[in-house]
Amino acid sequence: MVALAYLVAAICFILSLGGLSAPSSARRGNTLGIVGMAIAIVATVYAATKLTDPVIGMDAIGFAAVAIVAGGAIGAMLASRVQMTSMPELVAVLHSFVGAAAVLVGIASYVAHPNEPLEAERVVHLVECFLGVIIGSLTFTGSIIAFGKLKELIKSKPLVFPFRHGANLALLLLTLGLLGCFVMTQQAWCLYAGTALFGVLGVLLVMGIGGADMPVVVSMLNSYSGWAASATGFLLGNDLLIIVGALVGSSGAILSYIMCKAMNRSFISVILGGFGSEVSGPDDRAEAFAAKGVNRAGPEDVAEMLQGAKSVIMVPGYGMAVAQAQHSVRELTELLQKKGVNVRFAIHPVAGRLPGHMNVLLAEANVPYPIVFEMDEINSDMGDTDVVLVLGANDIVNPDALENPKSPLAGMPVLEVWRAQTVVVIKRSLNPGFAGIDNPLYYKDNTMMLFGDARKMVEALVTQVKGGGHGH
Ligand code: TAP
Repeated sequence: MVALAYLVAAICFILSLGGLSAPSSARRGNTLGIVGMAIAIVATVYAATKLTDPVIGMDAIGFAAVAIVAGGAIGAMLASRVQMTSMPELVAVLHSFVGAAAVLVGIASYVAHPNEPLEAERVVHLVECFLGVIIGSLTFTGSIIAFGKLKELIKSKPLVFPFRHGANLALLLLTLGLLGCFVMTQQAWCLYAGTALFGVLGVLLVMGIGGADMPVVVSMLNSYSGWAASATGFLLGNDLLIIVGALVGSSGAILSYIMCKAMNRSFISVILGGFGSEVSGPDDRAEAFAAKGVNRAGPEDVAEMLQGAKSVIMVPGYGMAVAQAQHSVRELTELLQKKGVNVRFAIHPVAGRLPGHMNVLLAEANVPYPIVFEMDEINSDMGDTDVVLVLGANDIVNPDALENPKSPLAGMPVLEVWRAQTVVVIKRSLNPGFAGIDNPLYYKDNTMMLFGDARKMVEALVTQVKGGGHGH
């Protein structure tokens, strides 16, 4: 029965991933994931009661009950409190728990049977144990650093020091040596030393990665946490944990790969801790920019422009999420559509702070899916667009990515908004965005800055459009 329940749960998880691949089926995907996890927990606890030793069986139920109630309460509290924009931080912390759990389970399984005859099966067990523990350790420390960087407790700039790739390689080789030593001698210190070295490696790898690559890192750590869970599944002889770990491990790796392609970063260089990443100095054009100044606009001018336009593309970014402007944005969209304006949305794959961030917000505000386009689908239309309205986005519309090989964003595909007739940017100041760099877009002749909070400004536009009777 337990095996059957595990099979059903595994199928639920696979269908869940399938559902999550499109906004329209994401809700169903989530539900299937919840159902699968509920089945998995019930089956696992039930299996524990059937352990041959009745005393252990009872203990297991008691422990499981305490753990599930306490863990569930903390999880529910964190998830209900967290802001959408802080989701990656929460995810990073959760990954660190998976890593810590893998370390503890691995060490416990070794401590329970520290010395046994070295047969083939024992060797396999020792290797599983060692791998589970070190991957868990790397996931644990790496996720904590990622959390610190996302929460801006640690500077987001990559930590570069000479020979760091050599140091990382040395840590890897030393740990492999310890694996050999552990299998041959079965000495505890090899396991503990390996755990410590991989913990340090986790810190160094993530410290070496700059802010702009952080989304990829979180997704990579997601993948590592999956492999750590899978290794734990082998240790515990739990088939479902092996399957689920493999699903998380491979889907995390695929997502990282897709994001790397979207940001034109080399996948290998990101997972190796920013291999080949350059450090950029301060922007030497800052003075020229300041001298040129920007074109300011008020809500009245922008409202008039929008109503007079035939086609408008909205580009939402992190600022729209912070300001929670999505509902006003939908209202503005509807008003403009009523006036015969063709309004579409352009979504950059890494807009905001988590994959799909903008899609989720727009879906929440009931913006219809057919007018929401991905970057590749809509970038070529920018040139034929009258007005592009940039809503609290910055890095994803930075022309430097294409025009300035020295920029940290160089090579990253961006939304080429400056090719539109007019670009209106709503943000509060000229401050940089996540990558911490200047944006020459703001100083272009066809760019207008509408300074202010995204929600207040869009509300002002709504009022203007409602009041004014312009249009075609
Ligand atoms: P950013 O480049 O971070 O720019 C956001 C802009 O929003 C800021 O410059 C800020 O300017 C403005 N803003 C903040 N609060 C606002 C408010 N209340 N009203 C109006 N504007 C506000 O965002 P982006 O263009 O969406 O690019 C995303 C960046 O995050 C990329 O660098 C990406 O690599 C990184 N990242 C992405 C992810 C994923 S997976 N999406 C995860 C982590 C990091 P002011 O302060 O002047 O208002």
